[in-house]
Amino acid sequence: MHSPAERIDQLTDLLNHYNYRYYQDSVSEISDFEFDKLLAELTELERHYPELMREDSPTARVGGTITKNFKTVFHRFPMLSLGNTYSEQDLRDFDERVRKGLNGEAYEYVCELKFDGISLSMTYENGVLKQGVTRGDGTRGDDITANVRTIKSLPLKIGSRTQNSDSPITNFEVRGEGFMPISSFEKLNKELEEADEPTYANPRNAASGAFKLQDSAESARRGLDCYVYYFLPDEAVFETHSDSLLALKSWGFNVSPSWKKCADIEEVLAYIHEWETKRHSLPLATDGIVIKVNSIVQQQELGFTAKSPRWAIAFKYKAENKPGVLRSVSYQVGRTGALTPVAHLDNINEDGKGLQLSGTRVKRASLHNANEIERLDLRINDVVFVEKGGEIIPKITGIDVEQRHSRLTFAITYPTHCPECGTELVRKEGEANHYCPNERGCSPQLRGKMEHFIHRKAMNIDSLGEGKIELLFDKGLIQNPADLYDLTYEKLFGLEKVITDEETGKTKKIGFKEKTVENILKGIEQSRNAPFKQVLFGIGVRFVGATVAEKLAAYFRNIDALMAADFEALCQVPEIGGKIAQSIVEYFADADNRAYIERLRAAGVKMETDDAPVVMESNSLEGKSFLYTGTFASMSREELENRIEANGGKLVSGVSAKLNFLIVGEKPGASKLDKAAKLNVKMISEEEFLEMLG
Ligand code: IVH
Repeated sequence: MHSPAERIDQLTDLLNHYNYRYYQDSVSEISDFEFDKLLAELTELERHYPELMREDSPTARVGGTITKNFKTVFHRFPMLSLGNTYSEQDLRDFDERVRKGLNGEAYEYVCELKFDGISLSMTYENGVLKQGVTRGDGTRGDDITANVRTIKSLPLKIGSRTQNSDSPITNFEVRGEGFMPISSFEKLNKELEEADEPTYANPRNAASGAFKLQDSAESARRGLDCYVYYFLPDEAVFETHSDSLLALKSWGFNVSPSWKKCADIEEVLAYIHEWETKRHSLPLATDGIVIKVNSIVQQQELGFTAKSPRWAIAFKYKAENKPGVLRSVSYQVGRTGALTPVAHLDNINEDGKGLQLSGTRVKRASLHNANEIERLDLRINDVVFVEKGGEIIPKITGIDVEQRHSRLTFAITYPTHCPECGTELVRKEGEANHYCPNERGCSPQLRGKMEHFIHRKAMNIDSLGEGKIELLFDKGLIQNPADLYDLTYEKLFGLEKVITDEETGKTKKIGFKEKTVENILKGIEQSRNAPFKQVLFGIGVRFVGATVAEKLAAYFRNIDALMAADFEALCQVPEIGGKIAQSIVEYFADADNRAYIERLRAAGVKMETDDAPVVMESNSLEGKSFLYTGTFASMSREELENRIEANGGKLVSGVSAKLNFLIVGEKPGASKLDKAAKLNVKMISEEEFLEMLG
């Protein structure tokens, strides 16, 4: 047993850690439910032993910390959080507090969904959107106006889209939840996966990442949206919250139509019940509902505690968890040959209705790799717990061991051979996945490579999407990407195929008519102009994602130099480590791969960078590495980069102990300065840099 002091210490550290991970890294290490339980425990302990409460207690502030890359701005009114509950009883207690607080006056509630994104505050002056800020720590947040402006459903100016001809209130703040619709999230993850870049665990993390991008054009591409739910005018305008929602709607704001006026707590409970499954039909993740006292005067009467309003509370749904039966395990082979085990699930009664979770039928869950099966100690026919939370993809969280006594279960025998092509699988030391090594004969790998080749960040042949590749494979017209350049009008015209959607059973006919064929050929023709870095990415060398390909292309400038480089030479390239270098060496050691490159070259695909090579000025910076931060008076960042290289210096992309010089310009980035100071990296000014050049 811990003493109260020890437990308070422990909980404070733990919760601060989770908060930091959540707000700084967008990673949820534990479920909301577990987090709230620990927070409640700490709150309770602090209530009993106020003298033991630490200054940095997570209960004393409303949220996380601030990111440094954006301008920090103070909120005019702090952005508070809401009290959380998971139980009906807590809600009844809340209702009781409201009743007492209002001394017998009549009151009503508005219920809304609790949207799972990031909270935003938007300021309008004279009807114009002036500023968009994140919640930050509740007192001050990041100024992300440029990114907020990319939200299509957010009026940039009130009045221009108004249905009311009366001039609306023009100076106000409006708060809401920025989010990434599930459809955009899935599209983004698919793109990231194809580009060999890390994917997001859920739409909330994806939204948080997108709102904090430095490049707002990229934010715009990610299709962000925002539901507004809180109107803060300079002076009170509306009598009720519901009136403000109606007004916001009429001024062109995106107000989710899911809100409802509720006469009493019973109606609130009915609303909670109604939306428990219905919420899954919404375009975004929701994790509960928010209950607000409708009258603004009454809201003011009830007021706030230090952390949250007394007139509102959040009710959270527990991530739905149900037992199911593991019927079988199948194995998917991906582009790189990695094998992923997939669990096939059913409900306990196996009555044909399937396992219903959070409003959808769950048929499968990913098991990731062999280790996961071992970790869970899974057997076929086991009763397993399946959870579907904000993560979209359901997961198996454990097994019901008790059930083993009454059920016949079977060990899962992990395959030794590829389920697609029969080749013996390999598992490299230190890697979790088994791989099928038959890169050139295993059909999902061939298809995956082809899809990778035509990817937007590779050869960008978008005329070949949606089943067209499939058809070309089936007709034996393509085997590897180089075959694309042998396609002709005659070969393509008139091809057709009926495809059946596995999930829905619906069939669709695709056929190549004149226009389609012309488009495909045009797309392939244009791909001959794709820059070398994209070609290099498209070739699909293991571990060579879009960013690495760009670095390699800039360094070696053409394929021959890259192919001639040995392991040591490759390790010299900024940011290329041993794992990548090894993979590249192995790739080009293979005669078939070299033949493939030659075919692409013969087809007219670019095998060298176009931009002008660096003309050497001196070797005064030789052997020294540089990084810069801020802007410079005498040259653009690009010129600076060129001059570093033209004088034999090496430009690196991050502060590390190995960095020799950090060139500090106007408005430098605080995080780079901090890190450089901590690591004792030498900092120089623009003038000092120019002097070094001689
Ligand atoms: S009202 C003063 N309404 O939940 C209360 N918040 O812990 C203002 N949230 O950070 C918040 N959906 O980002 C409100 N319909 C809704 C909401 C909502 C999601 C978030 C909000 C806030 C957190 C409260």
